[in-house]
Amino acid sequence: MTATAAENPLLEGLNVRPRPEPCTLVIFGASGDLTQRKLMPALYALAVRHLLPERFAIVGAARSDMSDEDFRERMKEAVQEFARDDFRQDVWDTLAEGMRYTTLVGSENQDEDSLGRLLDEVDRERATEGNHVYYFAVPPAAIAALVREVAARKSEKGWTRLIIEKPFGHDLDSARALNALLRERFDESEVFRIDHYLGKETVQNMLALRFANGIFEPIWNRQFIDHVQITVAESIGIEGRAAFYEHAGALRDVFQNHLLQLVALTAMEPPIDFTSESVRNEKVKVLRSLHTPGPKSVVRGQYGRGFVDGEEVPGYREEEGVSRDTGTETFVAAKLYVDNWRWADTPFYVRTGKRLARRETTIAIQFKRAPHPPFEEVAAEALRPNVLLIHVQPNEGMSLAIGAKAPGLGLSIRTVHMDFLYGSAFREGLPEAYERLILDAMLGDATLFTRADEIEEQWALVDAIAAPWQRDRPAFPNYAAGTWGPPSADDLVHRDGRSWRRH
Ligand SMILES: NC(=O)c1ccc[n+]([C@@H]2O[C@H](COP(=O)([O-])OP(=O)(O)OC[C@H]3O[C@@H](n4cnc5c(N)ncnc54)[C@H](OP(=O)(O)O)[C@@H]3O)[C@@H](O)[C@H]2O)c1
Repeated sequence: MTATAAENPLLEGLNVRPRPEPCTLVIFGASGDLTQRKLMPALYALAVRHLLPERFAIVGAARSDMSDEDFRERMKEAVQEFARDDFRQDVWDTLAEGMRYTTLVGSENQDEDSLGRLLDEVDRERATEGNHVYYFAVPPAAIAALVREVAARKSEKGWTRLIIEKPFGHDLDSARALNALLRERFDESEVFRIDHYLGKETVQNMLALRFANGIFEPIWNRQFIDHVQITVAESIGIEGRAAFYEHAGALRDVFQNHLLQLVALTAMEPPIDFTSESVRNEKVKVLRSLHTPGPKSVVRGQYGRGFVDGEEVPGYREEEGVSRDTGTETFVAAKLYVDNWRWADTPFYVRTGKRLARRETTIAIQFKRAPHPPFEEVAAEALRPNVLLIHVQPNEGMSLAIGAKAPGLGLSIRTVHMDFLYGSAFREGLPEAYERLILDAMLGDATLFTRADEIEEQWALVDAIAAPWQRDRPAFPNYAAGTWGPPSADDLVHRDGRSWRRH
């Protein structure tokens, strides 16, 4: 149920965003999975909330042949299946009116510059003033040719923006090459490299938590924080995406982008303002300060057969399309250090993996223990350290673990949790990350997108971690599906007298 501001004063002033200028959104990869499951439902949600431009069009493009009617029908089905709002015919009719499809060069019915002519026509019909947002929802190998095509038809009339999906390259060299290609014809302010984690409310709440409250920032440093743990755990396997995953693995699929972005947001200095340049300047400083972990500070794993939610699931090497002796990792854990004054000697333990016990993304800030327990009846070890847990997903919210006196005549200290849950505080369904990000790109706001130098820093670290992996063959599989990864991941933390959180 959606609450109104009258019922819930916390909602007052929310959803007040300017409407973007008239524009056409071109989706490359319009016949693909991402378009159906995320992009079209996000556009529909924006339409329901009157957040799309008044003059707006969507042009789908891919190599498959489809008529405008077929495209609209497919997109309608996608909205009915995946949108977070109930289907409303009136909203759909308005959106569908501006929807067209074109078959891209490379198909049998290829027609040179059919996209260019269609865009001119749509601009005239919908009065979208030559403003174009191109969404690259295509496999990485298809991006360069399409960037050249867009560059060739860039004109002085209207503006052009490019939203580029992850993975952005597969190592530092390829990311640099793609950045160089983009730089030839586009300004950095026209390029929006997406990491959909940054569009999540809870990830943005990290900025609000740290910089809109006076109480956290003074203790957000090595003097008060013992260590940080960041977990991006998935319970699903590779879901038929073997061709992609065999080349990516957990390091390139999640560590390179989502995990490092969460580290950057947790560790960054307060920006002087919230413009895209200021925020990204601070994030890139963190990425540059990350010390390359040695082989003893990195653990990789691969799942074998096991049980997830009570059901037996195959091991990674048994998945369709995966080679029987593959060395691809489905799990990575690492101990990272941010080499600066704020964080020196404070470990950031990070881990990500597939087929883990639960789907969960959390950032846990573990504070140091109280320096001196003055209670005679309570042993010092019984006093647990305070932990601030930020639940990125699911059960979005945060929780602060504090010691409190248990009721009774004696003195006994128990850990209790002060919780803030988005669902109960705002009683409003959270927007999908893609809604926020598509809208931001239309508005030209790149704050929640990854800048060229940021992405190159991320790849540089990943390349340095992966370099020694070429030399040895790990003994895979080394963890059972449905567990929290290989025992060596526990050792990584136990060696320092600590342990992974289990919630
Ligand atoms: N699915 C997700 O949830 C998700 C999440 C994060 C990131 N991504 C990224 O988003 C991109 C698309 O993912 P997806 O899951 O939608 O893949 P997909 O289902 O395989 O769809 C790929 C789309 O690209 C089109 N395409 C393929 N080769 C092309 C070419 N040479 N020129 C033009 N179009 C081409 C395909 O249509 P035709 O064959 O008809 O041309 C199809 O529409 C990938 O880079 C992926 O890593 C996806």
